[in-house]
Amino acid sequence: MYFENLRDYVESLEKTGQLKRIKTRVSVDLEIAEILRRLMYENDSPAVLFENVEGYKIPVLGNAFGSMRRLKLALDMENFEEIGERITALTKLKIPHGLLNKFKALPKLSEISDYGPKITNGGPVTEIIETANPSLYTLPIIKSFPKDSGRFITFGITVTKNPETQIRNMGVYRLQVINPKKAIMHWQIHKRGALHYQMNTEKNQNTAVAIVIGADPATIFSAVAPVPEGLDKHLFAGITRKKGTNLVKCKTIDVDVPASAEIVLEGYVDPSEVNIEGPFGDHTGYYTPPEPYPTFTLTGTMMRNNPIYLTTVVGKPILEDAYIGKVIERAFLPLVKLFQPEVIDFSMPAAGWFQGLAIISIKKRYPGQAKKVMMGLWGMGQLSLTKILIVVDHDINVHDMNDVIWAVTTRSDPKRDTILIENTPTDTLDPASPFLNLGSKMGIDATKKTKEEGYNRPIQEEALPDESTISLVTKKWSEYGL
Ligand SMILES: Cc1cc2nc3c(=O)[nH]c(=O)nc-3n(C[C@H](O)[C@H](O)[C@H](O)COP(=O)(O)O)c2cc1C
Repeated sequence: MYFENLRDYVESLEKTGQLKRIKTRVSVDLEIAEILRRLMYENDSPAVLFENVEGYKIPVLGNAFGSMRRLKLALDMENFEEIGERITALTKLKIPHGLLNKFKALPKLSEISDYGPKITNGGPVTEIIETANPSLYTLPIIKSFPKDSGRFITFGITVTKNPETQIRNMGVYRLQVINPKKAIMHWQIHKRGALHYQMNTEKNQNTAVAIVIGADPATIFSAVAPVPEGLDKHLFAGITRKKGTNLVKCKTIDVDVPASAEIVLEGYVDPSEVNIEGPFGDHTGYYTPPEPYPTFTLTGTMMRNNPIYLTTVVGKPILEDAYIGKVIERAFLPLVKLFQPEVIDFSMPAAGWFQGLAIISIKKRYPGQAKKVMMGLWGMGQLSLTKILIVVDHDINVHDMNDVIWAVTTRSDPKRDTILIENTPTDTLDPASPFLNLGSKMGIDATKKTKEEGYNRPIQEEALPDESTISLVTKKWSEYGL
């Protein structure tokens, strides 16, 4: 069963023993973050609803998606590859020519599928509308680490529109609140929100922005997912939950938001208003240093009666975002395979904060194929930001670090099989890159080398027991008294 809103999901978490309500008074200033971090560092810890937040009427929900069990419940599926499979099925169904055209055509397919979003006249989020004097100070926005430059909205979904195509985007970008009406928008340069902002800036116009705080799980997942620019994220959310999203129009800007959202902040980003954002204790485990980012101005708010404020904390992995990242990894595998058919599996270990390291297994057929896959992935959406790629053969389990290390140390020669590429786009958060957004990449080809690839020694055979000895020992196992 899919969830239409956040509160139904919260109810379901409670019914399945995955939610704790905290009635003790807590502060938004560091305390909530520390409680959440402690819980998240434990395995399979519960989601928490802080019901008594000092100075605020609105309860705070945290660790809502901090386990695979919860994400399976949230997205109503056991195998997240289904999401990518649904998209590849749609593309195969309608558009036979040209991979890129397939993606461009997807929004059109929404008209004939159940997954497309629908505009409705009203919805729960319109229960309380404030356009006269909206204020960010009514929200229990948290400060996470002592040296953070202020309080940050950490799990808000920024909704924008491509000014040329009108295709809608949703991205989770943090916002640093600087006064009741303003917050600094941390959309990194590679993200779709930043692209829309840049396109509007070139035309000297403001970017209309809605920030959705608290929505149904498929919408939240969609906002974190690295969906290609040509695909409407509301449609992607619909594909994920197998049911289109009901949207309402914002009151002060021309942006559509989920009708069942908890809280919506409406406003705009003015290109002439740039402020210094950060430092902020980030996904990497380090404080991201201050950098200039544009500023969001609040023009209105909409919320449900008794809204829930959704938050999260990031920091040294492994925290809540790691589980969402794992779902993305699984969901996008079928799409990676669509472009790189030799790919069998891939893994982005959470400790490498996803953009740091990826391991890909392939069924190799021809010389140099591992490098072909590296080049392909480094040209694909947010995968282009991956710092280190390791390509292994299909017999290696990419999720088992022992297997991966064994492959790297027995199948690669550092000089022959490592490639370094300088001056490439890097993740904005990478604390080690020599420049902001620019650094190098390393690719390790840890596949078995062939004669065609210049391996002139006799190919060494893997030492494995023979079948008859295996079955003999299996048959007699109980007799050995082990
Ligand atoms: C908790 C959390 C916080 C995030 N904060 C940011 C952020 O501040 N800036 C950013 O560019 N991406 C941030 N991301 C990653 C984006 O949400 C992610 O890259 C997403 O795919 C962006 O989508 P888009 O490029 O399609 O808009 C965050 C992700 C999570 C889970």
